[in-house]
Order: sequence, then structure tokens, then C-alpha cells
Amino acid sequence: MSFSAGPAAAPSADDHSPQLSDVGRYGRYVIQRFVSKARTVDQPTFRSLLVEYLGHEVHDLPITVEQWPAYEHVNVQGALDVVLTEHGDHARIIGVAGHRHHGPFGIADLLGDDRFAMHGPRPGNVTRISLPSGPGGDTRECLRVALLLLGDGDDRIAVLFRGPDPESGSSELTLEIVAQHPAQAESFGRRLRELALKHNVYRGQVVSFGRSMFGERGSLLRFRERPTMSREDLILPTATFDDLRRQVVGVARNSARLRAAGQHLKRGILLYGPPGVGKTHSVRYLISELVGTTVVELTGETLHGIREACSVARTLQPAMIVVEDVDLIAEERSHYGGETPLLFTLLNEMDGLDEDADVIFLLTTNRADLLEPALASRPGRVDQAVHIELPNRDSRRRLIELYRGNLDLETSRLDTVLDRTEGVTASFLKELLRRSAVVAADRDKQPEANTLVVTAADLDTALDDLLDTRNQMTRAVLGYRDEPMDDEASF
Ligand SMILES: Nc1ncnc2c1ncn2[C@@H]1O[C@H](COP(=O)(O)OP(=O)(O)O)[C@@H](O)[C@H]1O
Ligand SMILES: [Mg+2]
Repeated sequence: MSFSAGPAAAPSADDHSPQLSDVGRYGRYVIQRFVSKARTVDQPTFRSLLVEYLGHEVHDLPITVEQWPAYEHVNVQGALDVVLTEHGDHARIIGVAGHRHHGPFGIADLLGDDRFAMHGPRPGNVTRISLPSGPGGDTRECLRVALLLLGDGDDRIAVLFRGPDPESGSSELTLEIVAQHPAQAESFGRRLRELALKHNVYRGQVVSFGRSMFGERGSLLRFRERPTMSREDLILPTATFDDLRRQVVGVARNSARLRAAGQHLKRGILLYGPPGVGKTHSVRYLISELVGTTVVELTGETLHGIREACSVARTLQPAMIVVEDVDLIAEERSHYGGETPLLFTLLNEMDGLDEDADVIFLLTTNRADLLEPALASRPGRVDQAVHIELPNRDSRRRLIELYRGNLDLETSRLDTVLDRTEGVTASFLKELLRRSAVVAADRDKQPEANTLVVTAADLDTALDDLLDTRNQMTRAVLGYRDEPMDDEASF
């Protein structure tokens, strides 16, 4: 073997023959390894830290485990923040490095044999993650994984905190608590639960279950802005509106008196009617009025989280669970029950909730005919079915008024428009007004000012266009049916 040397000898990347300079490099490498090995022996391990903090009897102390679903991470952090502040200088947070390759681990592992203590998770930097703590982008810094040492003297608690960690396949938050006096560990766990509940960031908010690859337990709750709507934005026949509002808002407002009078508060309401008449719009209106009520929204996709949603609603009463387009799940098999269609899972969960829980289930559907058999076979889950019909003449007039906005609209031939729009949906009328404005803008090539005047003829043109056979598909997506059908259902 020979060494190549000399100034021209800068080795190219694919030259693997040994160089003189490699000798020095290797020497430095060996020394570095040696030094770092020698020093790790002196570095604290979790075992040494725990023994130092709780004494040698730590090996015999029982470990209390508390678990939470992933979406509670932010609340548990809120609870920990309170406890950390209380302990002030006597609180220590120690980060954990090198734990990923080991999968889930616990305090017992940290206290275990030398090999784990030397090569397993070791004290390292504290890592945090920002999690949403409110609508509008509020966040809270949350620990990912850490060992907390809380207190001094006679009152010492060590807590191993492991947040949900998708990368290592854990979808739950786990706390392992060990204390000098075992009863302390348990009461500490209870206290954290109380604090997490007290400072629950989801209370009174509008949240929806996000899809998660971890199924039910790993579900995420996302904050939604609470819509702001006024009574005038929702055009329904007065009787329908009053009925709906009484069941949802009326009961909520009078919950204390109703409960005292022994009346149950849990209620299930089904909004049904053709597409485009304002079921979703009504839901939004009700949410806007129920300020302070926790609202949990589920869609067909996330309905698998119904159990969690019920548990959130029960803990954060008064609450409302919204399941839109519930017909879409009528036939779907549930995640767990195997053969049970999701709809039955939903109905069972509705039934399972205490009667006096102040929880509203608000369901919507275009296909009450599909649901009717299921609901009829399990009576009592839905207390009230509210039919939202195609807008009558009076509602159509009000809808045109609402959606004309600031448009300067000539209303001389409005009566014919109202006649011709018999049987259309609210969203059809909204689109009609928008199109009339487009027609007007297009006609008026030289606008005098920045105003738009919609003449009766513009309105007619837009309506002709929408009713034209070429626009059958447009009508369909606006919910307008060309063929009159039997009315939806026989509720
Ligand atoms: N009753 C109504 N009053 C006012 N606007 C309505 C009404 N119904 C529908 N709209 C308008 O049409 C849009 C679509 O209606 P939507 O509530 O989604 O219908 P649905 O859920 O019944 O299919 C709404 O966003 C709203 O702008
Ligand atoms: Mg809808």
C-alpha cells in the first residue's frame, strides 16, 4: 500500500485510496470519540436525575399513568402552566433527546438497566410545539416530551410528559407521575384533570373535528370563527323560524328553569328540506345566536369521531353538536361496530347522553325519506323535525329584498318575477340578483357614476337566462327542480 502525497494530491471525491492527510483526520476522530465517551459517563442520565431527586426508593414507588386524547394536549399544557407557576423556582423542565428510536417509553424504562440509561432517551433540549388555543390564530406553547421535577423538601413529584407524536406512532398524550408519597401522585393527576377542564380552550367555542390518521383518539379539534348573522339575514316563514329558534335558543336561554322543573334539556332537531333552501344557513344563524355555547361540528367524513364529540359536548355544556347532511352517512358502516351503519352509531350516542345534559343535536338532510325509517325505528332521539320548504311568495319577496343589497333595482315588474319564480330555492334567487347586476353592468357601457342600475328588463333577462333549457345544470346546482317531485317526506 502506498500513500500518494504532494500539492497536486487533493483527492477527488471518487478517489478512495488513502491519503497522508487521512492519518491526521483519523487521529482527530479517535480522540473526539474518546473524549465524548469519557464525558458521557459523567453526564446525568434520567436515572441519575430521578434518583437524586426522589432518592433510591424511587425504584419501588408506584407510577400513576394519566392519558388524554391528542386534542387535549393544549388543555393539559394549560394545567401544567398553572402548576409550574405555583412551584416557581422549585420547578425544573428537562427535555428528552434520543427517544424516537425507542418508541414509547416510561419512567420505569428510564430507571431501568444501564444499557437503556446510557443509550436510551437522555436529557436534552426542551422542545415545544405551538398549538391553537383559540379562534383567530391564538396559540399556546406546548411541551412535546419532557421530565418535570416539581417541588422540593418533602413534597416532590416527577412527571414524565409525552405529547402525541405522530412520527413515533403515538396518538395520545401520556403523563407518568411518581411522587415521594404515592397518594400525592394520584391527587396530582386529579388536580391536573380539574385544571385542564377549568382552563379548557374549547369551552364556548365553535370547533370541528379534523380528520386524523389516528382515528378517533387522535382526532384534532379545529377552531372555527363563530359566524355573525342577524335575524334579517335568514328568510323563513315566521312560524318555521319561531319553531326552530324556540327549540334551540329558547331552551338554551331557559335551561336553568327548565332543569329545575325536571324537564330534560337534551334535544335532537332535524332540519329537512330540498337543497338550497337555507338549512346550512339556519345552522349558521343559530350558532351565531348561541354565543357562549360550545358547538362541535361533524361532517360525514369526521363522524367517526361522534363518541369523542359527545364526550366534548358533555364536558363543555351547554353545547350543540351539528351533523350536516346526515343522509350521507345513513348507509355507511361505522369504523368500529363493523356492521352498524354510522347513523345508528350516531343515534345510539345521542341516546347514551344523559337526559338532563344541556346538549343539542342539530342534524340536517335533503333526504328525510332515507332517514325516516331509521329515525322511526328508534324514536326519541329526534324530538323535532323542522321542515324548511321552498320559499313562498312572501319569502321570495323578502329574499329579493335581502340579496339586492345596495343595488338600485327597479321593482315595477316584481310581481311577474315573483310569479315566475314559484318553486325556486333561496339560493336560486340569490343567484338571480347577482346575474341581474352582471346583465346591467354589461348593458350600461358608459356608466355615469360608480352606480349600478338594474332595470326590470335586466331582471327579466337574467331570469329568462336562468330558466332557459341550456341552464338546466345551473338550476340543478342551485337546488331548483325542473320536475315537480312529491314533497320530501311525510314527517
Ligand atoms: N332561507 C334563506 N334565507 C336567506 N338566504 C338563504 C336562505 N336559504 C339559502 N340562502 C342563501 O343560499 C345559500 C345556500 O343555502 P344553504 O343554506 O347552503 O342551503 P341548504 O343547506 O338548505 O342546501 C346560503 O348560503 C344563503 O346565502
Ligand atoms: Mg346544506
